[in-house]
Amino acid sequence: MIRFEHVTKRYADGTTAVDDLSFEVAEGELVTLVGPSGCGKTTTMKMVNRLIEPTSGRILLDGEDIAGVDPVELRRRIGYVIQQVGLFPHKTVLENTATVPHLLGWQRKKARERAAELLDLVGLDPAVHGSRYPHQLSGGQRQRVGVARALAADPPVLLMDEPFGAVDPVVRERLQNEFLRLQSQVRKTVLFVTHDIEEAVRLGDRIAVYGHGRIEQFDAPATVLGAPATPYVADFVGADRGLKRLSVTPIEAGDLEQPPVVHLDDTVAAAGAALAVDEARWAVVLDDADRLHGWISAEALADGRGGGGGGGGTVRERARRMDAWLPVGASLKQAFSTMLQHDAGWIAVLDGDAADRFVGVLTPARLHEALRRSIDADARGAARSEVDLESIPGA
Ligand SMILES: Nc1ncnc2c1ncn2[C@@H]1O[C@H](COP(=O)(O)OP(=O)(O)OP(=O)(O)O)[C@@H](O)[C@H]1O
Ligand SMILES: [Mg+2]
Repeated sequence: MIRFEHVTKRYADGTTAVDDLSFEVAEGELVTLVGPSGCGKTTTMKMVNRLIEPTSGRILLDGEDIAGVDPVELRRRIGYVIQQVGLFPHKTVLENTATVPHLLGWQRKKARERAAELLDLVGLDPAVHGSRYPHQLSGGQRQRVGVARALAADPPVLLMDEPFGAVDPVVRERLQNEFLRLQSQVRKTVLFVTHDIEEAVRLGDRIAVYGHGRIEQFDAPATVLGAPATPYVADFVGADRGLKRLSVTPIEAGDLEQPPVVHLDDTVAAAGAALAVDEARWAVVLDDADRLHGWISAEALADGRGGGGGGGGTVRERARRMDAWLPVGASLKQAFSTMLQHDAGWIAVLDGDAADRFVGVLTPARLHEALRRSIDADARGAARSEVDLESIPGA
């Protein structure tokens, strides 16, 4: 969709801002450009909508060399959220949002309707915020207006230059989540600039890590964190990249432990026998539809204890509920956070697609193994399930 071919930008004073850059962004893909201040991120972005012309090389949009496309026509196809938001201070929120449709000559009513629809989409009530001026909004709300304005003409391509840069970390995380949800609906082709590696990792389908004017690595977030291509990238992603990686590594069924499973209507005697086979200290308890109910300990099943009395009755009377669960595919970070939140030594993992069917249990030890396996798999270009932990030195 967007393709850079050997693009170089040298400014008049001799500064080489971008040096022989080649990469491609697929249709519907969100690529984050991340790197330190002054490394050429904004320059890269502005060449896509011809606010800056390359010194050499070419940029293709949908296979067409943009050097031959009228800049005004080009910008209709490209939404742009500029660094520092850049709302017009003397225009209302609704007018700001309708800027592009207005420039495109839409009828006033249609442009305003579209603007209202977009404000709604980014979580602002047009009736409340539409008539305000930018200075009457919070920082996060201004950023949302910036995104709404870029989406106004429904362009297939979005350029976003640190769109969430000017807000505190809590608001930023909320905006990022909203944006991910929005992107899953609108599926734009997005180039997203940030200097924050955490943001790049959270949002990007792939990440381009910039050194000075050059891409040092262009890969999926987990790969950049797990197998930095150069010492520069390793340094940039930080010593805690293992921790960051938790947030981009999904739980897979193969990571899970399989404790004994009993059902609510099993007799206490049968359940006790099931645990005795493995000398297990506890079992997962499921209902008749194999959905998670909770757990039961070996002690609770032992005769005369756990309140059932005399060894009779069913698991139902003695089981404990369990609320700490996640679907397969949730991140290891969510898993860790859920464990901490519930003060649980394990969490249940369910198949979100198949009516919450129980799949297995994730323990801290299994979480650690999953992380190790995924890092090692990336380093070798293998699938995680193929990695034998025994073969990793020090594991
Ligand atoms: N008009 C200009 N003339 C000369 N040099 C420029 C011009 N614009 C940018 N530069 C230089 O080009 C380099 C890249 O600038 P650019 O704005 O692309 O960086 P950036 O990665 O977006 O940085 P930041 O994270 O601070 O926004 C910098 O060294 C900058 O000083
Ligand atoms: Mg910049």
